[in-house]
Amino acid sequence: MDRQIEAYAKRLKLSWIREHYHEVEESDPKEYLLRLFEKEVANREERKINLLLNQAQLPKTGGSPYQWEHIQIPQGIEREQVLYGDFISEKENLIFYGGVGTGKTYLTTLLSLNAINRFGSCVKFFTVAGLVNKLIEANQNCTLPKFMKQLEKLDLLVLDELGYIPLHKEGAELLFQVISMCYESKSLVITTNLQFGQWNHVFGDPILTEAVIDRLIHHSHLLVFKGDSFRYKESLLHN
Ligand SMILES: Nc1ncnc2c1ncn2[C@@H]1O[C@H](COP(=O)(O)OP(=O)(O)OP(=O)(O)O)[C@@H](O)[C@H]1O
Ligand SMILES: [Mg+2]
Repeated sequence: MDRQIEAYAKRLKLSWIREHYHEVEESDPKEYLLRLFEKEVANREERKINLLLNQAQLPKTGGSPYQWEHIQIPQGIEREQVLYGDFISEKENLIFYGGVGTGKTYLTTLLSLNAINRFGSCVKFFTVAGLVNKLIEANQNCTLPKFMKQLEKLDLLVLDELGYIPLHKEGAELLFQVISMCYESKSLVITTNLQFGQWNHVFGDPILTEAVIDRLIHHSHLLVFKGDSFRYKESLLHN
């Protein structure tokens, strides 16, 4: 009988039940069935979240509480809506602008974790340089449409470090394609050390730059990160 139960559970893709049904102790059959279903659903949720966390490829976080005093948050969005990823359901974008070590990547990572855990959002973190390399590679291998389809499935795309490295023409155009594809269909979080006026240095072409900024700032919130580098402060503490 065990074998048959396991075979049916496998066929029905009830993997928790298949492995653990005999561990549940309930004399009432309804209670027993309820327990099994509850466990199966909880297990599925957990696996889904783990899969989303793996796919997102977020940087590691230290776990220290996030300090907000140095961040200017514009009207129209609250701290909690940023941190807990509420802007994602509205398909809004966030742009984090500020100097090195001011917590842009850290906040991006925290809000991504929250969005995955709270809403089961599909998130992917890239550095701009990393994404552009992938796009160029995909373009050369004729796998660009497939790669774009994967990006289309996301709820939130993170582009970290815009401005750190200038892009070549092909890279800039491919990045523009991604930003256009995201427009009004998903959320972007972009971190940058450059004001909009300087984005031309990244994209290398004023018309393309204008087109990028135009798409981005529609439905966007610009958060400005001020102050000194936390890395610097931390290194002072440890010396
Ligand atoms: N608001 C914050 N509260 C607490 N710790 C912070 C905060 N911001 C940054 N830190 C600490 O400083 C480190 C560096 O921050 P982070 O990598 O987010 O900076 P960044 O703005 O992305 O810098 P860069 O532009 O150089 O990439 C973090 O890993 C974290 O340990
Ligand atoms: Mg960073």
